[in-house]
Amino acid sequence: MKLWGGRFRKEENKLMESFNSSLAIDKRLVYEDITGSLAHIKMLVGSEILTETEGNKISEGLHSILSDIENEDLLIDGDYEDIHSFVEANLIEIIGETGKKLHTARSRNDQVAVDMRLYAKKKSAEVVEAIEFLQNSLKMKADENPVMMPGYTHLQRAQVVTFKHHLMAYYEMVDRDKRRIKNAMSILDESPLGCGALAGTTHTINRGMTAKALDFEKPVNNLLDGVSDRDYLLELMSCFSIIMMHLSRLSEELILWSSQEFNFIEIDDAYSTGSSIMPQKRNPDSAELIRGKTGRVYGSLISLLTTMKGLPLAYNKDMQEDKEPFFDSLDTTLSCLEMMSEIIATLKVNKGNMKKAVKKGFLNATDLADYLVKKGVPFRDAHGVVGEIVIYCEDNEKGIEDLSLEELTSFSAVIDEDIYEYIDYQNSLNRGIKKLLVT
Ligand code: ARG
Repeated sequence: MKLWGGRFRKEENKLMESFNSSLAIDKRLVYEDITGSLAHIKMLVGSEILTETEGNKISEGLHSILSDIENEDLLIDGDYEDIHSFVEANLIEIIGETGKKLHTARSRNDQVAVDMRLYAKKKSAEVVEAIEFLQNSLKMKADENPVMMPGYTHLQRAQVVTFKHHLMAYYEMVDRDKRRIKNAMSILDESPLGCGALAGTTHTINRGMTAKALDFEKPVNNLLDGVSDRDYLLELMSCFSIIMMHLSRLSEELILWSSQEFNFIEIDDAYSTGSSIMPQKRNPDSAELIRGKTGRVYGSLISLLTTMKGLPLAYNKDMQEDKEPFFDSLDTTLSCLEMMSEIIATLKVNKGNMKKAVKKGFLNATDLADYLVKKGVPFRDAHGVVGEIVIYCEDNEKGIEDLSLEELTSFSAVIDEDIYEYIDYQNSLNRGIKKLLVT
């Protein structure tokens, strides 16, 4: 079953064999592996390296392996070194001697590189779709809820905003994530097939033809780089890490908002769980898990960065360790995006509690300072006056809007009856968020 047995006098040690095998992990590349081989074979025939009859036989064999796998007539396991060895060995078993010609003018180094790029491209498009799905949920929930809520800095009530405005901030974050992924996809869009082990091949192959057949923009420029490059995985994993950072911030807010202390939202029952001992509990596990899984996505990025650090050119077996972290960070990011879309789409907004919270915490203090400025008071002085008014309000357990005109004018003579309209929360929103025409 070994692709490389000829040069060896001894059998491979059993422990070494399982230590070396990546089949359990890279079996998910089977579709890309066969797609890459089909393009390679077509090119070998086109370049008159194999005959048409040989090419057809190999292609048919590859197609039948794929359909056997799809029909579960062929299971991907056994003592194979990796998915590439698995496909080649099965091909030889099905079509015989001709199957041994598949690997002409190719190395597993350019083979695995092209498989991974094809897979990364396909899956990145799924991440983009999942982001768009989340954006739809965010936008829908935002449009349904242009209700006022406290905006925070330092987690202290700061100024009035709307729930819509708050959710749309996340819409923008993930929109940048989407653009980052698309950019990474365009950078990785070069085919390494034909780089050979590191130095190409003595056969007259046509890298442009395989690149085109596999829908890559062009072949890579440098053969050594083509088989050594795992930047595209690192770049995507960086994008995934940033996505998870955004999702974990949103999760944290959802968790806080669904606490009794805030009581701004309710995460739907379908995405919450209970306690085995405390009958009253309704825990926001879905959001907590997203927040928690962020750690493993960061971990995967650091893992591969560390694996790649200091590796000499070209291929080294260390690089087989790219797959587990990449697959894990991809799967985790996809499932978290999907989960977050559902949490957002189904969550209930406690509008009344948000509005009530706006009225506590002097969220119109900045408006009052702006009002004084409009009446000719320099901003720094206005800031000081409003600070004193806030102390007075705290001592008397009142909001600024509850003070009488007499109380207000005792702090500044420029204050007039029109102050009440100015510091009204809805008017404040209309002047700020709405006037700037932001969502
Ligand atoms: N399973 C290997 C990997 O994922 C394939 C490349 C093997 N190349 C080699 N020269 N041993 O990296």
